[in-house]
Amino acid sequence: MPELTYDFTGKTAFVTGGSAGMGEATVRAFAEAGANVAIVDRDADSANALAEELTLGGLKAIAIACDVTDEDQVASAVRTTVEAFGSLDMAFNNAGIMLPPVDSADETEEAFDKIVAVNLKGVWASMKHELKQMRHQGSGAIVNCSSLGGLVGGNGRTTYHATKHGVLGQTKSVALQYGKHGVRVNAVCPGTIETPMVARMAAGGELDRDAAAAGVPLGRLGRPDEIAAAVLWLCSDAASYVTGAALPVDAGHTAQ
Ligand SMILES: NC(=O)c1ccc[n+]([C@@H]2O[C@H](COP(=O)([O-])OP(=O)(O)OC[C@H]3O[C@@H](n4cnc5c(N)ncnc54)[C@H](O)[C@@H]3O)[C@@H](O)[C@H]2O)c1
Repeated sequence: MPELTYDFTGKTAFVTGGSAGMGEATVRAFAEAGANVAIVDRDADSANALAEELTLGGLKAIAIACDVTDEDQVASAVRTTVEAFGSLDMAFNNAGIMLPPVDSADETEEAFDKIVAVNLKGVWASMKHELKQMRHQGSGAIVNCSSLGGLVGGNGRTTYHATKHGVLGQTKSVALQYGKHGVRVNAVCPGTIETPMVARMAAGGELDRDAAAAGVPLGRLGRPDEIAAAVLWLCSDAASYVTGAALPVDAGHTAQ
């Protein structure tokens, strides 16, 4: 984790897709900074294992099995979090999926619906129920996970990039509406980060790590904790005047 440290003691963080990749790194960072953390993931076993590890280490975390494509499950996850910890102060809406590249003339309706359900509807449902609680509190900070794919097109990944552009529309629109409620809403736009998702892409021949590293100004892939660092900053008082922003954390990829 980069060096900046925060004290989130007494605050509660809600992280979707929190049991792997950049979600897991963000859960760890929030917990180490003293926050109560809800690990919200459809992979219940991994979420439970992470919560147990953090709790045994003296940190505060609960696991909540939840598929973000199901609004009722998301509503229940937010309720469980508030019942457990008393508030919901910070959220990282990170759960997302990517499918193998396809010619746009051949993409199935099923693939389209699957990606939209997680990447766009999942963020919609998560924000909706987080905002109900934050509106009631009169405070909160939300970070949505977009992608460099929210800023540029992607050859063979039309629907993924469309959803990530959509996440920026959700982020900016809610930021406009919720400033008056004391809620800030931002997005991170990660570049290629070494997570299980990228490991699967590399294993499937969809990604050449060396070429990806050579293709960005910083010359390497990112680490999940480098995304966590950006999320924690956006959730902290250090970013108190930042809302509606789409922050590239991409080694300069989209500056090219
Ligand atoms: N890894 C990258 O290079 C990269 C780059 C840009 C953006 N992103 C985005 O970052 C986010 C996290 O990516 P990652 O690489 O850490 O992914 P990952 O596949 O490594 O981990 C994703 C986590 O989300 C969970 N998840 C997936 N679908 C879910 C659902 N419907 N409900 C609840 N949980 C669900 C998984 O169980 C897993 O724990 C995604 O939104 C992804 O699109 C990733």
